Amino acid sequence: MRKPIVLGNWKLNGTTAASEALVASILAGLIEWDAVDVGVCPPFILIPQVIHQAAHTNLAVGGQSCSEYVLGAYTGEVSADMLREVGCRYVLVGHSERRALFGETNEMVARKVNIALKSGLTPVLCVGETLEERQSGRMNDVVRGQIQAVLNVVGIRSFERLVIAYEPIWAIGTGLTASPAQAQSMHAMIRGVLSEHDPAVARGVRIQYGGSVKADNAAELFAEPDIDGGLIGGASLKAEDFLIICRAAADSLRFI
Ligand code: 13P
Repeated sequence: MRKPIVLGNWKLNGTTAASEALVASILAGLIEWDAVDVGVCPPFILIPQVIHQAAHTNLAVGGQSCSEYVLGAYTGEVSADMLREVGCRYVLVGHSERRALFGETNEMVARKVNIALKSGLTPVLCVGETLEERQSGRMNDVVRGQIQAVLNVVGIRSFERLVIAYEPIWAIGTGLTASPAQAQSMHAMIRGVLSEHDPAVARGVRIQYGGSVKADNAAELFAEPDIDGGLIGGASLKAEDFLIICRAAADSLRFI
């Protein structure tokens, strides 16, 4: 049985005060911590503050990205080791906004996953297709290619130590959510790709869905057998909504 995982991706949002209030409300809310892993991914500058606030709680913290380099003359970068040292557990890698706006290629993403694993972080490998790729029927090939690029570098056994997030780009921040059937179909496809290499690893890897997950659609998505929680953007900035989504993920275990 895979424990669902819900992560809030705050993206480029949050002030010191807003972050403190949001984390306080999440910690005060009722989450069945045994039934779901929960974390937030603030902008780098807010991470130490959130880690301090969430110390001795079950709320985990992650980075939204990390450098593909370990250290050296790479102005503006933050390394996986640095994130680990301040107490992060997760790091998002290859989010579609990083790929589209900051030129991250499949090969860069694979190097980042490798470096994050080496530092002891759990990478959250983000994959997903554009609307055009879906409409032309190429979505499975695109996502397969994104997974394969990482497999080529880290190997199948490393997938025991990472999380995958399927985020169709056309569903991110648009209010358009993949239907539970569309998401389930892609999640099963991803598990199938991994199963070609190692069925046991494929069965164990957690695959989150992301893209306009809201308080009112989370439960139906998480009820699908291959959807193991969510990567939440906009709705993770409102504690009340984020908590409803976390509870929906915890409840989804009961349907299995
Ligand atoms: P939204 O939930 O705002 O669509 O964002 C999804 C996302 O990109 C999470 O990483």
